[in-house]
Amino acid sequence: MKKLKIQGGHSLRGEIHISGSKNAALSIIAASIMTEERIVLENIPHLEDVTTMIRLIAGMGVSVTLADDNKLILDSSKIRNFLAPYDLVKTMRASILVLGPLIARFGEASVSLPGGCAIGARPVNLHLDGLKAMGADVEINEGYICAKAKKLKGAHFSFSPVSVTGTANLMMAGVMAEGQTILENAATEPEVINLGEFLLKMGAKIKGLGTRKIMIDGVNKLCSTEHKIIPDRIETGTFLVAAAMTKGSVLLKKTQPEHLQSVLDLLRQTGAVIFFEEDTIELTMNLTNIKPADFTTQPYPGIPTDMQAQLMVLNAIAPGNSIVVETIFENRFMHVLELQRMGADISLSGNTAYITGVKKLQSAPVMATDLRASAALVLAGLVADGETHIDRIYHIDRGYECIESKLSLLGAKVARIET
Ligand code: EPZ
Repeated sequence: MKKLKIQGGHSLRGEIHISGSKNAALSIIAASIMTEERIVLENIPHLEDVTTMIRLIAGMGVSVTLADDNKLILDSSKIRNFLAPYDLVKTMRASILVLGPLIARFGEASVSLPGGCAIGARPVNLHLDGLKAMGADVEINEGYICAKAKKLKGAHFSFSPVSVTGTANLMMAGVMAEGQTILENAATEPEVINLGEFLLKMGAKIKGLGTRKIMIDGVNKLCSTEHKIIPDRIETGTFLVAAAMTKGSVLLKKTQPEHLQSVLDLLRQTGAVIFFEEDTIELTMNLTNIKPADFTTQPYPGIPTDMQAQLMVLNAIAPGNSIVVETIFENRFMHVLELQRMGADISLSGNTAYITGVKKLQSAPVMATDLRASAALVLAGLVADGETHIDRIYHIDRGYECIESKLSLLGAKVARIET
């Protein structure tokens, strides 16, 4: 079993490049199957989830070429089936992002229902209700979403609650539907905007990207284009928290500061000194005592739920009390149990965590439960006394490109070990 071994107590100093956004790459790779013409995608991150999405569309008959370092060349002219099988979907719920593209272009899709998930029930009712509103016949047969539509028709659909991949799926479905689709209470995440910009370059007609109301006029065909994936704002935030916790000073390059303003503002509240330019962010933490900062997770542009676990660990070593409220997922405190084993003083009541900062976390053997919880354990290991071993690190590899190499470049003592 692969583990990460981390020797705590080293400040992070230096500079690294941020990789392309996992969540933008997943929806944009899915959208690429909507045209039979050549698609070139740049700044693709090397992540398990991206590999899974590539395997998924390759299984349909898409030819995928990895060129240079982070460039994908895709040819969906010979798609021969419209299936997203359970053995792939169970490893990555974002597989559902092929549903809209398949129905939009081919009029049918058979996509396994995503299985359970550590952070919550994560239903897909909004995806299905939206497609039904657009005239698709949608049935659930033996764990598969079986959807058919001669030609999708534009619909007026409102999300409750805001759904990131729900917005992505229905936007992709709408761009080739007959007539106009209006999505209300739509997600405004940068990844959704990056997807929308990709679709526009393919010839889609979309207005209102980045607002809660997206209006789409369907077109018959989408065409070849090239597109660059935006930087990963959650990877960026994770390394900024690591630098703040270890009282270091890092320069992150190839990132996009405007995509995580809420996180930068919160980190400034903890005492971090932050400068940023167009595609770089520099963070220095000089304070002896980091200041705790209360926060509540919100849809963009609020504090992202994907940063909740990481920011909680920062509060866990900040002298004083803080409160963290998770409003997006109902079970996204799995990391708390493991942090408590490392000496963190955190108590839970419903969707609220009450934290009292401790002087030092202790190293301990811990287990990753989901992608961002595992990142939080890595951060805890960076500041804990002694050597921390993190098990089930396949969770980390789903969303962080070579995390131990990037951390080592910044002076952390971290290694991947086989046990
Ligand atoms: C996306 O998940 C991200 N994944 C998640 O990132 C992220 O945490 C989440 O958005 C919130 O920002 C990808 O983009 C691949 P939602 P998604 O639909 O789209 C409820 C990571 O760490 N809901 O925005 O699945 C849902 O239960 C991952 O990179 C319904 O009720 O999340 C949740 O409470 C983890 N019905 C809320 O909406 C639906 O049909 C927001 O979920 C869909 C969602």
